[in-house]
Amino acid sequence: MSVKEKIEALTKSINEHNHRYYVLNEPVISDQDFDLLLKELESLEALHPELVLSYSPTKRVGEVPIDKFNSFPHTYPLYSLGNTYSEGELLEFDQRVKKTLGKESVLYTAELKFDGAAVSLSYRNGQLERALTRGDGVQGDDITANIKTIPTVPLQLQGEGWPEFFEIRGEVFAARADFDSVNEQRRANNEAPFANPRNFASGSLKLLDSREVAKRKLSIVFYGIASAKPVAESHYESLKLAAQWGFITSSNTMKPGTILEVLDFIKKIEESRESLGFDIDGAVIKVDKLADQQEAGFTAKIPRWAIAYKYPAQTAFTRIAGITYQVGRTGAVTPVANLEPVLLAGTTVKRASLYNEDEVLRLDLHELDTVSIEKGGEIIPKITGVVQEKRIANAPKLTFPSNCPECSQPLFRKEGEAITYCLNQDHCPPQLLGKLEHYVGRKAMDIESLGRETLDLLIKAELVRDVADLYDLQIEQILQLDRMAPKSATNLVQGIEASRQQPFHRLLFALGIRMVGETVAKKLVKHFKSMDELATASIEALTAVDEVGEKIAEQVVQWFSKEEHRQLIERLRKSGLQLVEESTGNEIISNALNGKKFVVSGVFIRYEREQLKALIEQHGGVVLSGISSKTDYLIAGDNMGPSKLEKAQKLQVPIISEDDFERMIHG
Ligand code: IVH
Repeated sequence: MSVKEKIEALTKSINEHNHRYYVLNEPVISDQDFDLLLKELESLEALHPELVLSYSPTKRVGEVPIDKFNSFPHTYPLYSLGNTYSEGELLEFDQRVKKTLGKESVLYTAELKFDGAAVSLSYRNGQLERALTRGDGVQGDDITANIKTIPTVPLQLQGEGWPEFFEIRGEVFAARADFDSVNEQRRANNEAPFANPRNFASGSLKLLDSREVAKRKLSIVFYGIASAKPVAESHYESLKLAAQWGFITSSNTMKPGTILEVLDFIKKIEESRESLGFDIDGAVIKVDKLADQQEAGFTAKIPRWAIAYKYPAQTAFTRIAGITYQVGRTGAVTPVANLEPVLLAGTTVKRASLYNEDEVLRLDLHELDTVSIEKGGEIIPKITGVVQEKRIANAPKLTFPSNCPECSQPLFRKEGEAITYCLNQDHCPPQLLGKLEHYVGRKAMDIESLGRETLDLLIKAELVRDVADLYDLQIEQILQLDRMAPKSATNLVQGIEASRQQPFHRLLFALGIRMVGETVAKKLVKHFKSMDELATASIEALTAVDEVGEKIAEQVVQWFSKEEHRQLIERLRKSGLQLVEESTGNEIISNALNGKKFVVSGVFIRYEREQLKALIEQHGGVVLSGISSKTDYLIAGDNMGPSKLEKAQKLQVPIISEDDFERMIHG
């Protein structure tokens, strides 16, 4: 076999295994065997870059961002759909269709109407040629690089019988769980969350860097084929064929049936809508026979053979009673509208999120305005508009405060950012509460007897203004708090007392210095050994520590540069806390690994992952959490994530087994 043939065969085989793994959930080879194939292909491709195929599985994620999207015409235009909200109109649609076709009975398929971004993919000779956004229906943007990052999108088709050229339409969307975790992450990074899964999906497709798109968990489902000649007799069969060719189609598709069966289907879906795991905004009903579709044809904009049934809009109208500005633990100020209670999709709603200052400005809210509220992808409903006609004359405009509603300090908004912050991190009550909760947390000082409510009471009674105050608390003071029993007060004091013995690295993490998480705290302590050494460390000294970059170093230096923080440390010292790291029992055994950097991933036979990491450090190696060009070795166990593997291979990081590793440390 020539190299060219070998590359072709490997590409085909890996694409097939990917399809089995991602689409069918039925792999037929082990992850290791799969990795071997991938490795083989990669090394051949590295030696013969001119032979790399456009549909190579190693090229799902691009290496460089593009500067702009090129626009291309759709070979077959994308139509939109007529809408209805009523069953009566669906029956009328059925009558119209029958009349147009001159038939007594017509069968329909019914599908979910996915709420995401429409895309059209073209395939030539069984290979993905291009992916376009819907655009204006006539032409769209070339988003091929982004679409390829979705692992279920076939680069090369399975089975046989596809037309030489066709376009397939589908919807890119985000599952609710994936969407929620992305937003959680964004909030943690002080980035504005996405308003709903639809915006998230379409926004992601418009990113210029496919490496970023690859990080976003997007899903895709296909629901229609456009080709010169029909691929089957019926739409339902065409979807079955699409599935055989490797496309993900929806399992919630109704077998061809009458319009009455369609009504049943719609009802069932509406009942199970919440448990689908992703958003839909209705159902799409299509004439099943493709010849009938062709005969019915299109009006200027929409097909006569299909219609969207939308579930009753989850919208209600009510009046704004006021806005509360909530200050979170990070100091972010979020406006929340208090509403006159109103029923919306079965629940009484009293509050709606307003997200940020821009949203308040965009809506141009005035006192006592009547607003429309909607249930979107998120649980808290949102205000979607103001009913201008109902505005009360001379009602004052609602403005964002310039001072913190909790501590009266001036608020601050960085240019180009959506979120407004109170910068009084140490003393603004909700921020202080957040800090204290973090301090007593299980992974920090682990003071179990001190819960959120008690902390809140202690702050309100002005008994605690910072973490050092905890150690000056007297039992008599605690007993004065609301509903505090002597037993809990004693527990509390004992808990605080015991926390003095927590090791230094826990204390450092507990202080809540920005960007100093558990791992960074441990690394810093390992290097600097004492609070005093750390407090005087320069940026250069700090960045010399593994996994500590410029940004973290700056946060550390900034924190210790505050006089108030230095005094806090002195008070903690006086209270007997551990400001020096005691030996951890993790003593160095050898220097066999000589500073080499390791990433550990997967499940091992002889070791727990944590044990392996300890061994690396005991033999003078360094453990990294993610693969980068600095990684010297990846120790791979069973079931490790394919993305880690791919990255290691791309960066040519040697991949070793636990046996290889043992040989390294034992010679
Ligand atoms: S078929 C000619 N099927 O709804 C028929 N569309 O207004 C064209 N959509 O943006 C569309 N789920 O992206 C069809 N199962 C489904 C769909 C669906 C969602 C979207 C589509 C388009 C809009 C049509």
